[in-house]
Amino acid sequence: MYSPAPSRYAGKNFYRRCGRSGLKLPLISLGLWHNFGAPDSFETARAMCRRAFDLGVTHFDLANNYGPPAGAAEETFGKILRVDFQPFRDELIISTKAGYDMWPGPYGEWGSRKYLLASLDQSLKRLELEYVDIFYSHRFDPETPLEETLGALAHAVRSGKALYAGISNYPPAETARAAKVLREFGTPCLIHQARYSMLDRWVEPQLLAMLQQEGIGCIVFSPLAKGLLTDRYFKGIPADSRAGHDPRFLRPADVTDAALAQPRALNELAQSRGQTLAQMALAWVLRQPAVTSALIGASKVEQVENCVNAVRNLNFTAAELDRIESILAG
Ligand SMILES: NC(=O)c1ccc[n+]([C@@H]2O[C@H](COP(=O)([O-])OP(=O)(O)OC[C@H]3O[C@@H](n4cnc5c(N)ncnc54)[C@H](OP(=O)(O)O)[C@@H]3O)[C@@H](O)[C@H]2O)c1
Repeated sequence: MYSPAPSRYAGKNFYRRCGRSGLKLPLISLGLWHNFGAPDSFETARAMCRRAFDLGVTHFDLANNYGPPAGAAEETFGKILRVDFQPFRDELIISTKAGYDMWPGPYGEWGSRKYLLASLDQSLKRLELEYVDIFYSHRFDPETPLEETLGALAHAVRSGKALYAGISNYPPAETARAAKVLREFGTPCLIHQARYSMLDRWVEPQLLAMLQQEGIGCIVFSPLAKGLLTDRYFKGIPADSRAGHDPRFLRPADVTDAALAQPRALNELAQSRGQTLAQMALAWVLRQPAVTSALIGASKVEQVENCVNAVRNLNFTAAELDRIESILAG
């Protein structure tokens, strides 16, 4: 029987308040987008989750469509809950989302009340849970009234099927509107899940500033640029890497010498800080006070360990930040 490390909360400043809510999230959270599908090893998936929790990672992020096939990652995590985590449910923050293509027909994607609430029920079944901690609208739907989409989130919270409402990938103007609408519904927006890394800075300066002002937390996804901001590809494309075996969102053609030039230069700086490139990339997104948590993916237990150890050095000198800017500008 799994018994988590008694040291998991010991002596670390590892949790940050999510906006102006009562909820704290770990600086590093684990996402199950890749490597938790049906073709992937259940024992590796399980080992990554257990090790993460042993290291204080309390937050696991899912979506209805994570797999493959869509839904499989929720089933995998449901099984991990059943065999390992069930006694620790109150120590966990489990999120899921709906917004992307999930089932055929007009009610299987985007932001209608019909889709969101049906999808949440399906997610709860796959996860074998009565509630998730955070339910997200996965993307802004330009054709559905925002009040309808967010009304579905508010309903999910009021019905007890979710504890908090979140939004993901919403542009700044729609985020501001969403904050207002959810506040009026009495179910404030807890968090915005947005893509952010040294290679993709669209959230600067507008969105992050607005989230801070609104008291909304921010969890940033793909902080390692899907593996490009790590040493994974410095010696070619390994067969077991994302680009090597699952090129749905990172193709071998994306991993060129040109694409690796900045990561290689950044890697030298990371080494001079006594960090891996992955660790420096995580410290860099966490330097923003508006960022509550860096949401990583992983394919191996060692990657989870390496990423969590990023928190040993989150400080940058002005010279280091300047060097990063000059590498990114080059
Ligand atoms: N809301 C949204 O629309 C949205 C979109 C995308 C993702 N997300 C969420 O964000 C999570 C993370 O996304 P992501 O997987 O793209 O994030 P990422 O952290 O940028 O990339 C993860 C990949 O980097 C490599 N890696 C991780 N740690 C490493 C280390 N220490 N050393 C070397 N390589 C390392 C692994 O690649 P290999 O697999 O090749 O080993 C891993 O799969 C997802 O699981 C999901 O929960 C949300």
